[in-house]
Amino acid sequence: MMNKGPGWSLEDIAYQDIDRSRLAGHADWFGLLAASSFVEILSDLYARNLAEYYAGDDDLCAWLTQKWEKEEMQHGRALRRYVETVWPDFDWERGFAGFRAQYGPYCQTALLGPTRTLEMAARCVVETGTASFYTMIHDLSPEPVLTTLAGHIRNDEVGHYKGFYHYYRRYQDRESHSRWRVGRELWRRVAEIDSEDAYLAVRNAYQVRYPQQPFEPADFRAFRSRISGWMREAYPFPMAVKMLLKPLSLPPAVHRLVAPMLIGAARGVVALSR
Ligand SMILES: [Fe+2]
Ligand SMILES: [Fe+2]
Repeated sequence: MMNKGPGWSLEDIAYQDIDRSRLAGHADWFGLLAASSFVEILSDLYARNLAEYYAGDDDLCAWLTQKWEKEEMQHGRALRRYVETVWPDFDWERGFAGFRAQYGPYCQTALLGPTRTLEMAARCVVETGTASFYTMIHDLSPEPVLTTLAGHIRNDEVGHYKGFYHYYRRYQDRESHSRWRVGRELWRRVAEIDSEDAYLAVRNAYQVRYPQQPFEPADFRAFRSRISGWMREAYPFPMAVKMLLKPLSLPPAVHRLVAPMLIGAARGVVALSR
């Protein structure tokens, strides 16, 4: 795998040209971008755990630390600078410190697995999620500098998916789990996507910016249902489903049958979560 670092840098982003008026008054954009910067910048923790779990696989560990982690950290730094430019009164450090303290304990090597192949399949799910998410941000962004930034990040996330998929194939050649077993793992990880980290990241961002307003689970549900509206408009469901199914290497005829059903089901789930 290619281990060279990111193909772009913060210098490529025209922060000085940001049109603040397009976003400054939108609390949902603030919450989404600040939360994303928190989650991305915690990648040093995820990378450490993964390198520990895959100890001995030097090729994978080199890719993880020299390519993957560097790019994820850069996503975090680039988003942080974007958020601080549009919302200069936001104390990013304080919000992130809260998030790290609360979410850090959930990131443990013991929670990875259950096998090296299946953890790689799970990483493919995560990167499918991020690639799709930044595609949506890119397409919905009302502010041109954010559009450019989201495009860079989206391309990296697609690259991460390809990297993890490459290693998934290598491990699967040795461990050869059944399609059924891999499918169950993919499903389990899809169901988990919406769990702790998003809630804690959004809550810590809001609590620091709006200290007078409590942020309860009900507020998060309301936030999520507004984001579901964005998803109905711009989430790349066909791309996400194609990426999700790839580790199963379904026969083409089965794929043609299953993919549209899943795309429809995913759209249905989002439509229901108003
Ligand atoms: Fe990322
Ligand atoms: Fe990624």
